Amino acid sequence: MKSPIVAGNWKMNMTHLEGQEFIKQVDNLTLDIATVKVIFCPPFSTLFHSIEILKNSDASVGSQNCHWEKEGAFTGEISVRMLDELGVQYVIIGHSERRHIFNESDEWINKKILAVVESGLKPIFCIGETLQNRENGLTEIVLSKQLERGLAGVIDLSGLVIAYEPVWAIGTGKVATGSQIEDAHTSIKNWLKINYSGDISDQMTILYGGSVNSKNTKELIELKGVDGFLIGGASLQIENFNEIIHLVEQFYRG
Ligand code: PGA
Repeated sequence: MKSPIVAGNWKMNMTHLEGQEFIKQVDNLTLDIATVKVIFCPPFSTLFHSIEILKNSDASVGSQNCHWEKEGAFTGEISVRMLDELGVQYVIIGHSERRHIFNESDEWINKKILAVVESGLKPIFCIGETLQNRENGLTEIVLSKQLERGLAGVIDLSGLVIAYEPVWAIGTGKVATGSQIEDAHTSIKNWLKINYSGDISDQMTILYGGSVNSKNTKELIELKGVDGFLIGGASLQIENFNEIIHLVEQFYRG
């Protein structure tokens, strides 16, 4: 049985002291959570202390990026081995800000996914179309290409999580409509079925991301194929994030 996920992508926000305080508070508010997997993805500087704080908690810690090489002359980068030794369990890969601001190619994303899978960590693999792609009717093609290139040579998808994040919905307050999200999740599932298997497609955890908050959580979690969320802005607000986690938990508990 796959568990629903609520993951917070902090991006470049909160110092390590602010971050520790935040995690302590959210963890205390979510002691009753039994079904939802909560994942905090703070900046590198907060990873170590987050893991210490959460060592007796069911919540996990994820990194926002990694490099595919184990070590070497790569100024400013961090390897999967370094993250693994800290106790990081998830790594966000291919986020649209990495793709668009830092020009990350599908080839780099693929190398990162391969490195993360090889180390036994779990990639949160982000894909999504731009507004221009959508307006040109290219959404499904773009998603398929990102999947095909990002997952090239990846045989075992067992720990992998996919996050569908339309670029135009990230940080804009514009949420995709229910049918846009359901169509995208269905096309991801179809791609997995064709290129892997029906079982893998059924078991894959597929998150939605893009302007999720406590006000729209209820309707979004009811959508077919949505197994949770990757959240930016609202994951930086204790009340908002806590409420989202509880709403998803309620939905799954019925
Ligand atoms: P947002 O960001 O929730 O602020 O739209 C989502 C993301 O970047 O993953």
